[in-house]
Amino acid sequence: MTRTCIIGAGSTGIAVAKAMHERGLEFDCFELGDRVGGNWVYGNTNGVSSSYRSLHINTSRERMEYSDFPMPKHYPDFPRHDHIAAYFDDYVDHFGFRDEITFETGVEHVAPDGDGGFEVRTSDGETRRYDSVVVANGHHWDPRWPEPPFPGSDTFEGEQLHAHYYKDEAQLRDKDVVVLGMGNSAMDIAVDASYHSRRTILSARRGAYIVPKYIFGRPLDRAGPADHLPAKVRFPLMERLLRTQVGKMTDYGLPEPDHKFGHAHPTVSGRILDRLAHGAIEVKPNIAALEGETVRFEDGSEARADLVVYCTGYKITFPFFDEDFVSAKDNEIRLYRRMFHPEIGGLFFPGLVQPLGAIMPVAERQGVLISEALEGRYALPSRPEMEAEIDATRAAMKKRYVASKRHTIQVDQEAYMRELLKELEAGRERARVPA
Ligand SMILES: Cc1cc2nc3c(=O)[nH]c(=O)nc-3n(C[C@H](O)[C@H](O)[C@H](O)COP(=O)(O)OP(=O)(O)OC[C@H]3O[C@@H](n4cnc5c(N)ncnc54)[C@H](O)[C@@H]3O)c2cc1C
Ligand SMILES: NC(=O)c1ccc[n+]([C@@H]2O[C@H](COP(=O)([O-])OP(=O)(O)OC[C@H]3O[C@@H](n4cnc5c(N)ncnc54)[C@H](OP(=O)(O)O)[C@@H]3O)[C@@H](O)[C@H]2O)c1
Repeated sequence: MTRTCIIGAGSTGIAVAKAMHERGLEFDCFELGDRVGGNWVYGNTNGVSSSYRSLHINTSRERMEYSDFPMPKHYPDFPRHDHIAAYFDDYVDHFGFRDEITFETGVEHVAPDGDGGFEVRTSDGETRRYDSVVVANGHHWDPRWPEPPFPGSDTFEGEQLHAHYYKDEAQLRDKDVVVLGMGNSAMDIAVDASYHSRRTILSARRGAYIVPKYIFGRPLDRAGPADHLPAKVRFPLMERLLRTQVGKMTDYGLPEPDHKFGHAHPTVSGRILDRLAHGAIEVKPNIAALEGETVRFEDGSEARADLVVYCTGYKITFPFFDEDFVSAKDNEIRLYRRMFHPEIGGLFFPGLVQPLGAIMPVAERQGVLISEALEGRYALPSRPEMEAEIDATRAAMKKRYVASKRHTIQVDQEAYMRELLKELEAGRERARVPA
C-alpha cells in the first residue's frame, strides 16, 4: 500500500485525512501547532494564524460546513473563530482519525527520493519516505507587504503593521490609524479601528463592491442569484441587486469599482458601510509616501498617523520545498485542476484556491480525488492535456479578473465543485481504459 504524508491539519488537511481514513489509506499528518484548525485557532501555537479577536466567518456556516458534518444548529449564521475552530476539532473526533495526526511537529524539508517517492524531514529529527505528499500548509499566513515599499517607509516615525499581526483592539486604541486595502482584512480592521482608535482612515488603490452579509433577511450567499446560473448571468444580476439594496459605493465616499462585479475577490462586510455613514471612517486614495509622522496620499492630502496597517494580502509559500523544486513566485503555480502537479506525480495541493464561496467543501471533494488517485481508481490525463487545461484556465482568469497577485487562484465554489465531479468521472474512465 502507498504511504502518504499530509502537511498541515487545518480545515483542508483534515478534510483530505478524513477521506483517506475512510478508505483505509495509510497516511501520517504532521501539524505544527498543538491542535487542528490552522488559521481559525486564535493564538494558535503554530505561530502563524492570521486570526484576530473580532474575526467571524464571512461565508455563512451552511456555505462553509463539510457535506456530511453540519455545524451545530445553535451556531449563528456567521460564527466567530472559536466556534469554527471547535467545529473542526469535533470533525476529527466524529470521524475518528485524531491518532493519525502528529501535533507540534513541522515538516521541514521535502525532496524527491530518486525512486518516484519523497523524503520528508520533520522537526522531531526524523526523515521518512513517502510515496506521495499532500501539501495543505495554507496560503493565508505569509504576509505580503506593499511591493515596492512606499517611499519613506524606512524612516516613518509611526508603527507599520501587516494585517497578519493584528490580534486585538488594544493595538489600535487611541491612535491615528491608516488602514490600507479594500479586501476583507481591511474591512474588519477599519471597523475595529473605528471603535477604538482616535481617527480611522481607509486608504485604497481601487474600489470594491462591498457585499452585505444579509439580503432579504437571509445570508447573502444562500439568498443571492442561484449558483447554477452561468457567471455571465449571475454576476450582472448580483451587481443590480447590490445597487438596489446597498446603493452606489460612491454614496459612502468610497471609490467607484473599476471592474464589474465578480471580477475581483468579494469584499464582504455587514458593518463597514454603517461606520462610513456615521463618519467614523474617512476614505482616501492610495498612500503616496510616508514622511516623518505623516502619511501623504495620492491626491496630495496628508494625515498624521501613529499606525499604518497594511491589509495587502498574502503570499503562497512552501518553506519545505527547495525553490527550484516547487515554488509560487508572485502567487503563480501551475496545477492541473488547481490541485495536481503536472510534472511531479504524487504531489497534491488541496485547498490552494481562493473561492467565491468557502474552501472547506472544496477541500472535501479534492480529498476524494486524491484518495481515488492513490487507490488507482482515478487516473490523470496525459501531460499535454494537463498543460492545455492549465493554460486555458489561466487565460480565462486573466480575462476575467482584475490584474493582481490576489487573483491567481480564484474559483467560483459551485462551478469548481461541479468541475471536480466531472473530473472524477473522467479520471475513473481513464483508469478503466489502459492508455
Ligand atoms: C483573516 C482570515 C479570514 C478568513 N475567513 C474565511 C471565511 O470566512 N471563509 C472561508 O472560506 N475562508 C476564509 N479564510 C481563508 C482561509 O484560508 C480558510 O478559511 C482556511 O483557513 C483554509 O484552511 P487550510 O487548512 O487550507 O489552511 P490553514 O487554516 O492555514 O491551515 C494550515 C495548517 O497547516 C499547518 N502547517 C503549515 N506549515 C506546516 C508544516 N511545515 N508542517 C506541519 N504543519 C504545517 C499550520 O499549522 C495549519 O494548521 C480566511 C482567511 C483569513 C486570513
Ligand atoms: N471576515 C473574514 O471572513 C475575513 C477577514 C479577513 C480576510 N479574509 C480572507 O482572507 C484572505 C486575504 O484577505 P486580505 O483582505 O488580507 O487580502 P486580499 O484579499 O489579498 O486584499 C489585499 C488588498 O490590498 C490591496 N493591495 C495589495 N497590495 C497593495 C499595494 N502595494 N498598495 C495598495 N494596495 C494594495 C489589494 O488591492 P488590489 O485588489 O488592487 O490588488 C486589495 O485591496 C481572503 O480570502 C479574504 O476573504 C476573510
